[in-house]
Amino acid sequence: MDDLRNKYLAAIADAADESALETLRVQAVGKKGEVSLKMRELGKMTPEERQVAGPALNALKDEINSALAAKKVALADKALDERLRAEWLDVTLPVRPQRRGSIHPVSQVWEECTAIFAEMGFSVAEGPQIDTDWYNFDALNIPGHHPARAEMDTFYMHRAEGDNRPPHVLRTHTSPVQIRHMEKHGAPCRIIAPGRVYRADYDQTHTPMFHQVEGLAIDKDISMANLKWVLEEFFSAFFEIEGIKTRFRASHFPFTEPSAEVDIQCSWEDGQLKIGQGDGWLEVLGSGMVHPKVLSAAGVDPAEWQGFAFGMGIDRIAMLKYGIPDLRAFFDSDLRWLRHYGFGALEVPTLHGGLSG
Ligand code: DAH
Repeated sequence: MDDLRNKYLAAIADAADESALETLRVQAVGKKGEVSLKMRELGKMTPEERQVAGPALNALKDEINSALAAKKVALADKALDERLRAEWLDVTLPVRPQRRGSIHPVSQVWEECTAIFAEMGFSVAEGPQIDTDWYNFDALNIPGHHPARAEMDTFYMHRAEGDNRPPHVLRTHTSPVQIRHMEKHGAPCRIIAPGRVYRADYDQTHTPMFHQVEGLAIDKDISMANLKWVLEEFFSAFFEIEGIKTRFRASHFPFTEPSAEVDIQCSWEDGQLKIGQGDGWLEVLGSGMVHPKVLSAAGVDPAEWQGFAFGMGIDRIAMLKYGIPDLRAFFDSDLRWLRHYGFGALEVPTLHGGLSG
């Protein structure tokens, strides 16, 4: 019995894990285990022998069972200790040792525009980037023969052989969102529509995909004066320059009458462009009073409603505000460029909190 005790207590002490323990339990005190077999032999003993051996075997069985239970607890403690050691973490370390990733200037300026116009009561509208030529052209008073169609270097989508419907286009401007918004919500309305637009053009200031923000305000008596105030308010807030001067030049767009191109005051010194000072002018957007035909096309009665619209290049004003010389670099995904011109991910532009940190 002493041999059995020594053998099993030593083996239990050495057991490496729970499955080794279970094997030992079966070998010692399982139904056919060594201790159990010994207990069966009790029947063959004399009553005197049994009186000694019986309690001793029972004691041995208890001893082995409690050694097994104690070892099981010890193994579990050890496993937990190891896990705690391996998964240790210094919660006092800074969350982000260095800035990783940044907000692209286009996203930044998009958010800045949204914040400024939201303050003036404009909400954000959206439309599809792949649109029909009716929304992109016809509804905006640009009929099929109109030179503006050719000038816009439109990307036409391929149609299947034998499908004679007019092709879809990649929208060449955000102006179709005017139509879609009025069609759905009618008048009055006050929206901006920031988004991607596409034209087949590529040089230092043109990329085949770029960004515009459209503005539209329709009501009973909205005038060019309201347009001028809204735009001056916008440019002052955007360039963070009090009382920035604008110049309205008579122009022509099929979807507005009258139409104006808008310039902002600037100076060029030693090749350095400065916004809001000097006697130079820089064109930044197109605008005007929405053409009656455009209102009609969108289901809004021009005898009852009128308003202004404008369209502005987001990338262009980003280049001007942040002094970025080449538009093509915007879309190169060059990490060095992104780190240099990018913005902190947690600095959300607001008018009260500051637009650009
Ligand atoms: N859609 C014009 C373009 O992409 C820009 C524009 C001009 C938009 C005048 C307007 C507007 O809403 O009134 O060149």
